[in-house]
Amino acid sequence: MTVCTTEKTSDRSIINDQLFEQMVRLIYDLSGIVIRDGKQAMLSARINKRIRALSLQNFEQYLQYIENDASGDEITQMLDMVSTNVTSFFREPHHFDLLADLVRDTAKQGVRQMRFWSAASSSGPEPYSMAITIDQLLGSTTTDWRILATDISTRMLERCHLGQYPENDLRSISADLRDKYFKPTGNHGVRQATTRLREKLTIARLNLSIPPFPMKGPMDAVFCRNVMIYFDQAVRERLVTEVRRLLRPGGLFCIGHAENLSAAASVGFVRIGPSAYQRTGT
Ligand SMILES: C[S@@+](CC[C@H](N)C(=O)[O-])C[C@H]1O[C@@H](n2cnc3c(N)ncnc32)[C@H](O)[C@@H]1O
Repeated sequence: MTVCTTEKTSDRSIINDQLFEQMVRLIYDLSGIVIRDGKQAMLSARINKRIRALSLQNFEQYLQYIENDASGDEITQMLDMVSTNVTSFFREPHHFDLLADLVRDTAKQGVRQMRFWSAASSSGPEPYSMAITIDQLLGSTTTDWRILATDISTRMLERCHLGQYPENDLRSISADLRDKYFKPTGNHGVRQATTRLREKLTIARLNLSIPPFPMKGPMDAVFCRNVMIYFDQAVRERLVTEVRRLLRPGGLFCIGHAENLSAAASVGFVRIGPSAYQRTGT
């Protein structure tokens, strides 16, 4: 493990090797996130910022602060520092075409209840893009459909719940859909998802690295994109085992374009397109 500097631990900017390893272990235990080599300098710099903001003296005090933080707020802050929340509307658009095909086919079979899950929803563009896709197909029917949006970051989930985005973030949505689903707020250049759309989302904090999850399923589609990249193989395989349990046969499973399923994790899935899988079985 790289030593950031080892001179004297009383200086708040100094993180010794042993404390750093404790931090890496704590992050892994809390979130499954692996801090890879080369990320140490970035992590040290970000943690030093938090140490200053909290008026603490050093890194050791910061570790104690996290361990004693019953509210979990500082843990959320820390995880926000080590994983990126970057997301966008209709990111990897072919997944939304597959979702639309699935919804159409399922409705044709006479199914009148559908459930969807955005497993690392960040601030909301992914579940809202799913909601727009589904609402266009089922909005005028009596089909009961809902989307579960989960993330480990309560800060991101608050933003998802609010559903407010700068117009610039909505540019990947056509103007007619944007006008239909996002209404101007009093705040110039900011729009908010309609109540109807927001009511389709159930928002909850969930740590993907600690299965089993409390949901029973069955789900029709699970989007778990651009989060497994932070996990090691063991955490990924446990997560995919849970997705397999929750997805109905024929259900859709989308992962990030830079992610892939190991041979072990692929059991029970057939690949149907780039970073997209279908649950097999009957
Ligand atoms: C890069 S964003 C991906 C957002 C969205 N899925 C997309 O593809 O646009 C990664 C998200 O994973 C969340 N995350 C990181 N570790 C997590 C964990 N152990 N459990 C649940 N969410 C986690 C982060 O808070 C962040 O919002």
